[in-house]
This record gives sequence, C-alpha cells and structure tokens, in this order.
Amino acid sequence: MKKDMLLLAIETSCDETAAAVVRNGREVLSNVISSQIDLHKLYGGVVPEIASRKHIEKINQVIEEALETAQMELKDLDAIGVTYGPGLVGALLVGVAEAKAISYAAGKPLVGVHHIEGHISANYIENKDLEPPFLCLIVSGGHTHLVLVKEYGEYQIIGKTRDDAAGEAFDKVARAIGLGYPGGPKIDKLSKEGNKNAIAFPRANIEGSPYDFSFSGLKSAVLNHINYCEMKNIDINKADIAASFQEAVIDVLVTRTILSAKDQGMKKVAIAGGVAANSSLRQAMMQACEKEGLQFYYPSPIFCTDNAAMIGAAAYYEYQKGIRHGLDLNAIPNLKLGER
Ligand code: KG4
Ligand code: ZN
Repeated sequence: MKKDMLLLAIETSCDETAAAVVRNGREVLSNVISSQIDLHKLYGGVVPEIASRKHIEKINQVIEEALETAQMELKDLDAIGVTYGPGLVGALLVGVAEAKAISYAAGKPLVGVHHIEGHISANYIENKDLEPPFLCLIVSGGHTHLVLVKEYGEYQIIGKTRDDAAGEAFDKVARAIGLGYPGGPKIDKLSKEGNKNAIAFPRANIEGSPYDFSFSGLKSAVLNHINYCEMKNIDINKADIAASFQEAVIDVLVTRTILSAKDQGMKKVAIAGGVAANSSLRQAMMQACEKEGLQFYYPSPIFCTDNAAMIGAAAYYEYQKGIRHGLDLNAIPNLKLGER
C-alpha cells in the first residue's frame, strides 16, 4: 500500500492568516483561517502594513491549531507547503519565513506554491474524481484568469482581465453604494432583492481577444448612473444596482468561459477564487455547463476564498512532480503562474 503523504500548508498572501493539514492532496484534516477583515474594513480595503503585522501576531497560533485539530505533530509531516507569490510582499514574507523556519527546524522538505495554483487546486478537495485536463475560471480580488489546466501543475493562460479583477469591481461598486468592505458577499446578498434587468450596464468586448475581460468600464457606468440619479434627484435603488451590476459581471464570465471551453475542446469546467463563492455565478455557470453538456466543478465557499487547504492540495501535486525549494525561497509579489 502507498504511504500517506501529510502536508502542513501556510497561506498569508493577503488578509487571511491560514494553515491546514492535508493528506494525499485531497483530504483536509484541518483548515484554520484567521481573517483580518474586521480590521481592514475600518479603512475600506486591505492596508498592507497592517496585514503583515497581524500575520506575525497570528501565524504561530494558527499553525498550532491546525496541527492540534489534525492531531499531528511536526514530526508526522512529510513536507511544508507555502504560498510565495503573488500577493502583498510583506504579508507573503511572514508565511515564507515561517515555513522556512519549520522546514529547517523539523528537517522537512519545503514546497513553494503559486497562489492561483492554490485556488485552482481547491477544486480537487471535494471533487475526488476531478483530474486534468480541464478549464478553470479564477475570479478573486486580485485576479481574473481563464486557465487551461493541462496536467497537474501545468497551466496555460487563455484569457485575463485587462484592468480590474472581478472581485475588485465587486468591492468598488459596493463601496460606491455604501455597502462596505468586502463588497462581494454584500452585493451577492442584496442582489437577491433587486431586479437584474433594471439597468442595462455594459458588457465589454475586447477586439481580437475573445477570452479577455475588462471591468473598469462597467465600474464607471455604475458610478455614472449613481451621479446621474443624484443630479436629477432620483432615488437610488441599491438592490437594483447591485443585481444589474452582478448580472453584467456574471454574463461576461459565463459567456467567455463556455466559449473558451468549447474552443479548447474541454469537457470539464471549474471555477475558483473568492468571487466563485457568488451564489448567482455558481448557478449561472452550472446552467450554462448543463446546456452545453460540460461537467461543472466548484469548491465550497470556504475553499473559494483564501485558505491554506487549497495550498496543501497544490503543494501535494508539486511535491509529486519533485519540486522542492531551498531555504533561499523568497516572496515574489508578481510571481507568474507556472514559474518555479
Ligand atoms: O480569493 P480571495 O479570498 O482573495 C484574493 O486572492 O483576492 O477573493 C476575495 C474577493 C473579494 O474581492 C471579495 O469581495 C470577493 O472575493 N468575494 C465575492 C464573494 N465572496 C467573496 N464576490 C462575489 N460574491 C461573493 N459571494
Ligand atoms: Zn486568493
């Protein structure tokens, strides 16, 4: 029988201090997330300096809890996985330094992971049958990518945003209508009370790049609509704005994803990242996939937003490929997908 492979994974790329223990890449024994959202929401967004300091305060406690819940000690582990990019450099450094220290002290191999590879790999946790090749739409606060997952750890970017990320657009529109940070979950909720066809917000097409996205025009259209209403003394219907904006985002995300899946001859489609927790996006993508005869995969919301279990899943497949990092591993804030 094959020996179990146990990984401790650490994630600190943005505003979540997270650690997890994962068995054989797909079984989550613990998944501890300490969110800093309450702190950053006072400022309307993530403040990098505060994020780094909070990671330092929390990291040991979070790791201890992850080990305790999994009933493991460092000596039981086979490797340490850690996000080393992309993200906020100061925040990333805390996780990377911690992972290196544990790797050195416990004598365990170190595996650095790309944050987006982590988001994609979140799909492996609950979908035991999912194997590459498949197409994955990654939509988070910092990224909007259509990625062809050719093999474990082998990626080809098919399309991406030219300006704002989808999550960034959710956050900015939420702020404009006074919903606060982070805006995604709040727009998701408020949209259910609004009419998604109330306002015809634009869907941007980029000439010559059928799989790319652009959300800055949509964001401006929402701001213009609010200004116009204020000037004319027309009452603003926040729920209608939220629902119509969300519909415009979902429309382009679903259309581009289905188009590229078909063009690439993919039979399986997955979604990942914080915006993948959006209930209407999940529903719309499921319906579109069903209609096109594509198999649809998605993680539970807790594995969509930042967490370390997804980093453990990604680190497992990197480890299987023979990837090991030395104690000179550094945080790379603009790390490219597929770079090692
Ligand atoms: O993946 P994530 O936790 O962090 C990054 O890697 O960026 O994504 C955070 C983003 C935020 O912009 C947040 O507003 C958005 O995901 N988000 C949502 C939902 N939950 C989180 N957007 C839409 N609907 C949601 N339910
Ligand atoms: Zn993320």
